Amino acid sequence: MTKIAPSILASNFAKLGEEIQDVERGGADYIHVDVMDGHYVPNISIGPMIVEAIRPVTDLTLDVHLMIDNPDDYIEAFAKAGSDIITVHQEACTHLHRTIQLIKSHGVKPGVVINPATPAEMIKPILAEVDLVLLMTVNPGFGGQSFISSVVPKIRQISEWREEMGLDFEIEIDGGVTAETAKTCTDAGADVLVAGSAVFKKEDRKQAIEEIRNSL
Ligand code: DX5
Ligand code: ZN
Repeated sequence: MTKIAPSILASNFAKLGEEIQDVERGGADYIHVDVMDGHYVPNISIGPMIVEAIRPVTDLTLDVHLMIDNPDDYIEAFAKAGSDIITVHQEACTHLHRTIQLIKSHGVKPGVVINPATPAEMIKPILAEVDLVLLMTVNPGFGGQSFISSVVPKIRQISEWREEMGLDFEIEIDGGVTAETAKTCTDAGADVLVAGSAVFKKEDRKQAIEEIRNSL
């Protein structure tokens, strides 16, 4: 079954613990944590202290998406804070293979992310090393942007390579996912859908998650 990963970027930070428990009750599978440094992306969000603070409030997988320069410098801190998955941008890693090994060395599942304009070929050599491939369907930095549908063939491509290479990483989609755009992603091979605004900006989060599931 398709997994839903609400992004806390769209939640009410004044009551973050309750917000996470609300989506957990509503049927969320992962909690997606968007980390932004004001350099790699033009916005600043949250750091390892927040991951550490939310770790005890949920049993769900903490899926930590690093949108930062020099990710190697912060992987230990995010691992110690309680991340289950750490994803790094191929575009931000000078030595991607080394960074993926560093994540594994801390006992955390590694994932790799590419932006809408980055070709799938850029991550083909690393596919055998990761547990998750995250494909951005918006340019990273902000929630609430529109889905870039030209990324869909890339989902299909990664899914085909996964099959050809006999691998079992998950394919996750991030950006502009709604009940209108979700199905094109899962039809192309996506397993996990990040949804920020489409879940947290709705009054009834359970209903919002169900709406996405029912659209598939
Ligand atoms: C964008 C973030 C996304 C974002 C998704 O930089 O990586 O995870 O929070 O938000 P929506 O679902 O509102 O596009
Ligand atoms: Zn994200």
